[in-house]
Amino acid sequence: MNRICTRILVCLALAAAATLLSGLPFASAQEEAIVLDMGGPSDQRPAVAFDHGLHMGLFECLDCHHQIEDGVNVLDEDDLTPGNPDVRCLACHAAADADIDLQKAYHRQCMGCHIDTRKTGEPSGPELCGSCHIPGL
Ligand code: HEC
Ligand code: HEC
Ligand code: HEC
Ligand code: HEC
Repeated sequence: MNRICTRILVCLALAAAATLLSGLPFASAQEEAIVLDMGGPSDQRPAVAFDHGLHMGLFECLDCHHQIEDGVNVLDEDDLTPGNPDVRCLACHAAADADIDLQKAYHRQCMGCHIDTRKTGEPSGPELCGSCHIPGL
């Protein structure tokens, strides 16, 4: 197993229950809360709760997910299927030769957007260490 391993805890049971109640076709795991945790020897901060569903409702998939070739995002949205390991940030940013390591990838994407959004005056997300890395997850 990869030493820098990101743990995803997806509430499958909740998804199934919500699906039954709403009568919609089985909503995929990608709509649920994700716990991001690089773990491994560099684990200095508590894991981060990421409400994927909230963010999916606000932005396009390709605002966050990418496969970059010659500076262009060439990712096919159809590849964004639950459980596809190639979608994970660590698939590329944990590589030893990555220009942007995994921690920077998360921080730049998460905090970068929160800062940009705040500047527009719209409601935005946390920028302080302790408001993302909350002990006790
Ligand atoms: C605000 C950023 C953001 C947006 C918008 C977003 N995602 Fe994600 N998504 C993430 C992050 C971060 C992860 C966790 C990646 C990891 O664990 O490496 C993730 C994980 C996933 C996964 C893998 C989870 C699993 O079940 O295996 C899928 C599939 C996915 N997203 C699909 C989508 C689709 C489809 C959309 C658009 C409807 C979307 N995402 C929109 C940030 C985003
Ligand atoms: C298929 C490989 C791949 C995946 C998966 C991937 N990236 Fe990237 N990402 C790249 C490449 C290539 C670049 C361009 C810079 C470089 O060469 O490292 C990049 C650039 C970035 C940048 C800097 C440019 C920008 O858009 O602001 C950030 C931040 C980033 N990625 C975050 C993420 C996050 C967060 C995830 C998971 C949701 C992710 N990446 C998934 C390959 C990937
Ligand atoms: C493309 C822009 C964008 C990206 C990327 C993004 N966010 Fe957000 N985030 C937002 C906005 C906008 C809100 C405020 C939503 C609202 O209050 O209506 C928010 C709200 C939040 C909140 C507070 C709401 C809640 O769920 O408790 C948290 C925590 C959060 N984001 C974490 C993250 C993390 C972690 C990442 C990276 C994995 C991330 N965000 C990436 C735009 C973004
Ligand atoms: C918008 C949310 C967000 C904010 C704000 C944020 N981080 Fe993170 N950080 C993440 C995510 C997501 C990861 C990857 C998941 C993990 O392992 O925690 C991460 C990873 C890390 C890691 C590497 C993994 C670990 O657990 O040791 C460190 C260290 C870290 N952050 C420190 C900080 C510090 C210091 C600050 C304040 C300057 C900060 N973070 C602010 C979201 C955030």
